[in-house]
Amino acid sequence: MGNIVKIIILSCGLKKKSKSRSMARHAFGHLQKLRVDVEFVNMQDYALPFCDAETETLHHPRVLNLKGKIQKADALIVATPVYNYSGNSMLKNVMELTGSAWQDKVVGFLCAAGGERSYMSILSMANNLMLDFRCLIVPRFVYATDKNFDTDLKLSADIDARIREQNEMVIKLTGALT
Ligand SMILES: Cc1cc2nc3c(=O)[nH]c(=O)nc-3n(C[C@H](O)[C@H](O)[C@H](O)COP(=O)(O)O)c2cc1C
Repeated sequence: MGNIVKIIILSCGLKKKSKSRSMARHAFGHLQKLRVDVEFVNMQDYALPFCDAETETLHHPRVLNLKGKIQKADALIVATPVYNYSGNSMLKNVMELTGSAWQDKVVGFLCAAGGERSYMSILSMANNLMLDFRCLIVPRFVYATDKNFDTDLKLSADIDARIREQNEMVIKLTGALT
């Protein structure tokens, strides 16, 4: 497809059996089939410090490693559980620690929630990225609830289709910008 783009799947769910991570893996598998340059970044592996704005925290080796990866990407697909009508605190912490690395990226979201009513809950984080770092937010974000997963966290057909649609939109938008 089009120009060569580099995409990061940023999986922020920390639960052992995480629905948002299952969505992230699904998106990753589909992008690999499209032969896109895609990297899966699992925040379970990072043990990041909390952002306190101290220089030593911002220069922590794991923070710099993650920041470098984000900087090199053209687009990010962020998978997060919905917690208290927002993304989870891991996602917020990553945004605080790596902020400027997000500048001008295309960003899509994969949200796993308990119910239908938090459908618009990712918008505050989308707004942060749009206003702080001029990210181009993909409006076709994916929102799944418990009823979209079976007991092995396999996804329903409609969510599979939404993930594919978003992936293709991320590639199209990124290709047009690079
Ligand atoms: C602390 C906490 C807050 C939550 N807040 C919401 C919420 O505001 N709206 C909602 O629909 N689900 C909420 N949930 C349910 C989770 O979004 C749901 O379990 C989701 O599948 C978690 O994703 P994960 O499996 O990737 O961890 C909350 C769960 C927890 C533990």
